[in-house]
Formats: sequence, structure tokens, C-alpha cells
Amino acid sequence: MSESTKVAVLGAGTMGHGIAQVCAAAGFTVHVSDPSEAARARGLEGVRASLDRMVGKAKMTAAQRDEVLGRIAWGGDLGAAVEDAGVVIEAVPERIELKRDLLQRVDALAPDSALLGSNTSSLSITELGSTLRDASRLVGLHFFNPVPVMELLEVVRGVRTSEATIDRALAFAARLPKTPIVVRDMPGFATSRLGVALGAEAIRMLEQGVASAEDIDRAMELGYRHPMGPLRLTDLVGLDVRLAILDHLHREVGEQFRAPPLLRQMVRAGKLGKKSGEGFYKW
Ligand code: CAA
Repeated sequence: MSESTKVAVLGAGTMGHGIAQVCAAAGFTVHVSDPSEAARARGLEGVRASLDRMVGKAKMTAAQRDEVLGRIAWGGDLGAAVEDAGVVIEAVPERIELKRDLLQRVDALAPDSALLGSNTSSLSITELGSTLRDASRLVGLHFFNPVPVMELLEVVRGVRTSEATIDRALAFAARLPKTPIVVRDMPGFATSRLGVALGAEAIRMLEQGVASAEDIDRAMELGYRHPMGPLRLTDLVGLDVRLAILDHLHREVGEQFRAPPLLRQMVRAGKLGKKSGEGFYKW
């Protein structure tokens, strides 16, 4: 995977723009595709803010920031984004039909040699690949928020994912650089399954009045050295994202993943966490 490899990132949201940033910082040419102009503008602002923060901490120079920004193109045309791409990563909302339809379009438009990655946090890679001409080139490439900071890349092997695709995914991780783990295509993989279990239990504890949101978070921050408590983390990830994962795991794994009513109610009220300005905390 050479520096001239073009990476297409589909979706300019929280994960998409973070993925675009780390790919551009690693020297890749990046094209972010999102049909919403407003989402593209927010994505660009997100990348700029993150890079400015790094310049402020002397982790990069202003000139390097401008180079990284200059390597990312933003547009609404899927064909233009995936044309000549060596790697395509979809990072659109966590709905199977949305991701499957998009990947099917990519399958027709991207070069046959392109590696196809899905940033899904819980959906089946095998199912996402079921309608592709060649499912052997699809792999889960699961990043973590904030993408520029988090070290892990969870690489998910679908039933049809080839060994060569896993090798390419590992080489890609090394270039970013991220530390990969390879997991089987089971609902919630390794990270989301454990992450939402803790988050959901914290919400149930809040419902039961065990302690305040702040103190439930402090329990894990000070008692277990988590960098951030489970409720604040749910705000960071997005309550809607966590609810979608829980509903999926509830269907696929069982009762222990039934979403707490409080979470569903908050999502219905538009309290989605940091991105909407309010979740378990005000932002
Ligand atoms: N861009 C660039 N740098 C950033 C950044 C960003 N968006 N966010 C934080 N940083 C940098 C800061 O500048 C700071 O740098 P220095 O160490 O050089 O000072 C460093 O990261 C730490 O940040 P802060 O000092 O602001 O605050 P912190 O120490 O509390 O760390 C945090 C913030 C990194 C977010 C930390 O709280 C943390 O690790 N939280 C847990 C995050 C987590 O669990 N993410 C996974 C969520 S699950 C997911 O994403 C997957 C899914 O499928 C839903």
C-alpha cells in the first residue's frame, strides 16, 4: 500500500471525518463523500479543529496541518470518490440496509482491486457482503472515537473475507498507524459487545437511582481507571449509536442487551449526547 494510494471515506460524520484525518495524516490522498453539504462542512470543521489542537500542542506544525487538509477532497459524488481508490471505507449510520445498498453501489463503481472496509460497530460483515460480487475483499475496519487519538483498529473477518484481505487490512493499520486486533464476525465483535454492556448497566443504575450520573462515572474513572465514565462516553459516542447497537445485540445475542427505557426515551427526545448539545450531560 503506497503513499499514492487513494482512500475513499463514505460519510463525513464523527467517524468518517476522523478516519479521513488519520488517513491524510499518514500520507494517503483522501476523498470524503457525503451527499449532505452541511455534513461535509461540519466534517471539515471537525478535522480542522482536531488538527489545530495538535498544532497547539506542538504535535505538528501549521504547515503540516495545511498539508493534511490539502490531501482531503470533499464531495457529494460517490463515483468520483471511489474512482481509482485503493481502499474504500464506509462510515455511514448504523443501518444494515443503508450500508448494504451503499456497498453494493461501491462494488459496481470502485476498481475491482480496491479493499472494501466497513466501520460498522456491530453489524455482520458477512451479511453486509452478501450482495457483493466479491465478498472476499470486504472486511470490518472498526475505528474508535476520537479517531486521531484512539490506538485500536478492530479488524473483523467475515465468513467470506479472504486471508489476503486480512493481510491488506493489517498493512493498512500499520500505515496509519493503529494497533489491530482481528476478531470473528460475531455480533458486537469484541469492543462494542463489552462497551455497550457497561454503558447499558450504567444507564440502568441511573434509572434505579443508585447514584448521580457524575458519581457513576467517577466510580469507573477513579475506581477502575477508565479514562472516561460509561455515561460520559455514551454522550461522546452518541446515544442513538449506542441504542442502535443495543437493539441489534438484543435481537442477535439475547435479553442481556435489552436497551434501558431511559436511553430510548432520551433518543426520542433528541438528546443524543455531545453532538446534539445534551445527553447525560450538557455540552
Ligand atoms: N483530536 C486530536 N487530539 C485530541 C482529540 C481530538 N479530537 N481529543 C483529544 N485529543 C488529545 C488532547 O489534545 C490531549 O493531548 P495531550 O495528551 O498531548 O495533552 C489528549 O488527546 C488527551 O485529551 P484531553 O487532555 O483533552 O482529555 P483526556 O485526557 O480526558 O482524554 C479522551 C480525552 C482521549 C477522549 C479520553 O477521555 C478517552 O480516551 N476517553 C475514552 C474514549 C473511548 O473510549 N472511545 C471509544 C468509544 S467507542 C467507539 O468509538 C466505537 C463505536 O463503535 C461506537
